[in-house]
Amino acid sequence: MCGIVGYIGDKEVLPILIDGLKRLEYRGYDSAGVAILGEDLKVVKTQGRIKALEERLKDEDLKGNLGVGHTRWATHGAPNNVNAHPHYSESKNIVVVHNGIIENYLELKKMLVKEGHDFRSETDTEVIAYLIEEFYEGDLLEAVKKAYEMLEGSYAIAVMSKDQKDCFVVVRKDSPLIVGLGKGENFIASDIPAILTYTREIIILENGDIVKITKDDVSVWDANGNSVKRPVQQVQWNVEDAKKGGFKHFMLKEIFDEPTVIKEAMRGRIKNGSFEIPELEQISVDYLKNIRQIFFVACGTAYHAGVVGKYLAEKYLKLPVQVEVASEFRYRDPMIDGRTLLFVISQSGETTDTLAALRLGKKKGAKTIGIVNVVGSSVAREVDNVVYVHAGPEIAVASTKAYVAQVEVVALVLLYFAKKLGLLSVENEKALVSEFFALPEKAQAILDRSNEIAEFASTTKTIEETFYIGRNLDYALSLEGALKLKEISYVHAEGYPAGELKHGPLALVTPQSLIIAIDTYAPLRKKTLSNIKEVKARQGRVLAIATKGYSEIEEVADKTFYVPQTIDDLSPVISVIPLQLIAYYIAESRGLDIDKPRNLAKSVTVE
Ligand code: G6P
Repeated sequence: MCGIVGYIGDKEVLPILIDGLKRLEYRGYDSAGVAILGEDLKVVKTQGRIKALEERLKDEDLKGNLGVGHTRWATHGAPNNVNAHPHYSESKNIVVVHNGIIENYLELKKMLVKEGHDFRSETDTEVIAYLIEEFYEGDLLEAVKKAYEMLEGSYAIAVMSKDQKDCFVVVRKDSPLIVGLGKGENFIASDIPAILTYTREIIILENGDIVKITKDDVSVWDANGNSVKRPVQQVQWNVEDAKKGGFKHFMLKEIFDEPTVIKEAMRGRIKNGSFEIPELEQISVDYLKNIRQIFFVACGTAYHAGVVGKYLAEKYLKLPVQVEVASEFRYRDPMIDGRTLLFVISQSGETTDTLAALRLGKKKGAKTIGIVNVVGSSVAREVDNVVYVHAGPEIAVASTKAYVAQVEVVALVLLYFAKKLGLLSVENEKALVSEFFALPEKAQAILDRSNEIAEFASTTKTIEETFYIGRNLDYALSLEGALKLKEISYVHAEGYPAGELKHGPLALVTPQSLIIAIDTYAPLRKKTLSNIKEVKARQGRVLAIATKGYSEIEEVADKTFYVPQTIDDLSPVISVIPLQLIAYYIAESRGLDIDKPRNLAKSVTVE
């Protein structure tokens, strides 16, 4: 996820770009840059935040009325000056900014290198600029159209040519992009807040749209090359609301981002109906056969993604698996050797305990795989192999979309290894793959009914404590559900194995207790149902999260929220959504500071 902003008109463009980038900084902030077409086509970019770019610009005299800016959230290539956007074509006649991922960039890059081209950066973006230059014969729009046909993936791009001072061309495919309309001036941006100071008239582009923008005109062609008119909309939001996509809090926005996050996390990882993890290609079957044990190590929410990993790894790889909190692991003397595979999961990639655990594992000879969100972070740099989850920047302290992506990527990696080891039948793989593709829609179906959860939450004002119960993968989810609630609502919450409830916590159950029973794991459904009955016998209030079609549960629980049917092993990816929503709405009904809960921090770089 990156931020793009662009302007064409009569005003000096630089202040407009900087102002827009600042408002898009929530989309990415590891490097930033601008390209301005004045006398010349000039690019200034730097690692770091927009502030660093402003410092850098003090030494430059950038003048012009046409330009694009970019704030980056690295996906391909470390966050540094060279990989920062905008990117020039080889001759420096064309400039591109890009948000998203070009899946076939390696193939395209190889092809261009073969033809004798020399690349400067490690990014997929540069390939776009080079490709457009290959096709450029004096008409930027035509060149972009030709390049577009060759690009696979999800992206939004904005392109300028030194020879065409009267326009820029943009493409929107899966990644967001809007056009802002002014009088004698026009804008583009990844998101509304970037341009809200200048205009409230916007066009939301459709997937596949290619657009030529001059100061007086916006011409749109759809994915089939037909000239089309897109409706102009009036934005009612204020700037602060707009930053959160109109949501009241970043946390809610991030939960609503999840269908897209699920799509992005699997992108390029399922090819021709089969699991493929290009980042792990070099791990051989012989190496995998030699592994004797697996560890998942992490903190907080990432640890809970590891708990899901434990269940899946045991089932699919038939190996002993341990999952451990990093702050404990690092001060033990874990039995680790060269035949140990150590997964390290981290959103930020900077958590001190997680880093220390990783270093300990490496020292003892384990092979390490990082499941990380922030590209170029410490964990990502230090592990033997990193698989990024591509969740985009997460602003709210309580992690939501990163968890969904972590669980999904852990599942993808384990299934890929199972396939390599011959432990995954063709039919099983087929069924799982088609279910992966169905997950974004199922996640959306849950979000479409978020009002049911909000209504239930508004009835929980008197609740003093909560227990989240479940079995197997539902137990893993119960841990995460409880953590979410305590983080942001300050209500005491515990995740417990459903079968263990009667060995202690049942003594605490009163009419003031809320029990959230997760009952999606089909093989143990009836067992969890019995545990719900035990709670009801003590007058506890029960909210059940159950699979659609399992109506028996309604007779027992006070309220049932149904999640769509999926394969049990993939259920955590979507079944966590109602748990995140319940935490959010309970905190909201108590009027709390949801995005910045008391005493907690997003990136914990202390012990
Ligand atoms: C903090 C955050 C949590 C996060 C945990 C681990 O406690 O508030 O949201 O799950 O750290 O962070 P990491 O960046 O390593 O995933």
